[in-house]
Amino acid sequence: MNLVERDRKVLWHPYTQEKTAPPPIPITRGEGVWLFAEDGRKFLDGISSWWVNIHGHSHPFLNAALAKQANELEHTMFAGFTHKPAVELAEKLVAILPKGLTRVFYSDNGSTAVEVALKMAYQFWLNCGSERRTFVAFENAYHGDTFGAMAASDESSFTKPFQNLLFKVLRAQSPDNCERKKTKAVEEILEKNHREIAAVIIEPMLQGAGGMIIWEAEFLKKIRELCNNFNVLLIADEVLTGFGRTGKMFACEHADISPDIICLSKALTAGYLPLGATVATEEIYQAFLSDDRRKTFFHGHSYTANPLACAVGAASLELFKRENCLEKVAFINQKFNRFAAKISELNCVGEARTIGGVSAIELVSENSGYLADIGQQLYQEFLARDILLRPLGNILYFMPPYIISESEIDWVLGEIEDVIKTLSTKKHIKNIPNTSRPRPY
Ligand SMILES: Cc1ncc(COP(=O)(O)O)c(C=O)c1O
Repeated sequence: MNLVERDRKVLWHPYTQEKTAPPPIPITRGEGVWLFAEDGRKFLDGISSWWVNIHGHSHPFLNAALAKQANELEHTMFAGFTHKPAVELAEKLVAILPKGLTRVFYSDNGSTAVEVALKMAYQFWLNCGSERRTFVAFENAYHGDTFGAMAASDESSFTKPFQNLLFKVLRAQSPDNCERKKTKAVEEILEKNHREIAAVIIEPMLQGAGGMIIWEAEFLKKIRELCNNFNVLLIADEVLTGFGRTGKMFACEHADISPDIICLSKALTAGYLPLGATVATEEIYQAFLSDDRRKTFFHGHSYTANPLACAVGAASLELFKRENCLEKVAFINQKFNRFAAKISELNCVGEARTIGGVSAIELVSENSGYLADIGQQLYQEFLARDILLRPLGNILYFMPPYIISESEIDWVLGEIEDVIKTLSTKKHIKNIPNTSRPRPY
């Protein structure tokens, strides 16, 4: 039996309709922006393997940090114990995070980073003597697949089957592309309900899975102001936007604001190992200190602060500095901006938008949303061109690791243009002639 046959007997893949999905592609190796398949093909990782990879695959510096740590300590529980990688990573994070975020609570992934934030905010108010029963979250929000994260996320294919089990949040209008400064709606919600609201949770500057929707910094600034005025906590979910993706180390910096709690994961370990971090202010931390043990934050995971993940996280931050990653993202962004201006002329492009290392193209299609057929068709078309792009329905986006070279960017953008141009003249994505532009390798 080959690997795919063995896979099909025992595995169940994420976000995959196993009845109709094509067989998974066995990947044997990764290097730089490339993923190498068992059958000799290679794919440029145009979505940074679900937005986690920033320095490229199997980076020698990160490999060395991981190997070193594995030889010293692979794991220990984190209640009653501590270790150097956890402390070092927390110190490095606190040094670069927006001002005031000083207490790092580790978990396992982006969803758990959000769960921790929601629970922390909720119990903060309880510990302060008041019960705040709900949260404000935004239209098109996506915060993860666990129950709290799903409740905060807007209704979508991901959450629909579970709607009856989700706690209610107050859903604020998101600032869409036509009218980005819709803070009035949020203001009204806060004015009416602030005594009941534990926190506002927001994806700063960029709503990812909801459709790569980019906001203006003004909106974020105003949300911070409103939270201050109505004495409500602000949770910034920077699981996607953290570590340079929007052109700043953290997206909150665009608006020069500090949230009360920030959620981090994905690029935290540069795509090596699952790790989440929820970082809170000293005020929040202090509210959990008490002689009354019931005020303890009773949350944890077996792998909390896993030393291997923390060691790679610390090494990744070192590499980030050494390699001037923010400059790299600025360079990528220039290229993306020029491309967006050109591509938006095409009649099948609704909007081309960019922020930092993200280029998103909203395609006009018969149906939109995550389940729009065109997404699957584009995915296959780009795989045939040796590029991994996984559109969110009719939203095609390119979000490569920061180490991508200029010629690789140009090549991918050329392929995207080629496919979209053909889309403009054809009704269907099938049978697009592949012009076989020279590969950058
Ligand atoms: C903003 C945001 N929050 C949370 C998550 C959930 O992260 P994870 O998939 O690691 O659970 C994601 C994942 O895409 C995300 O984009």
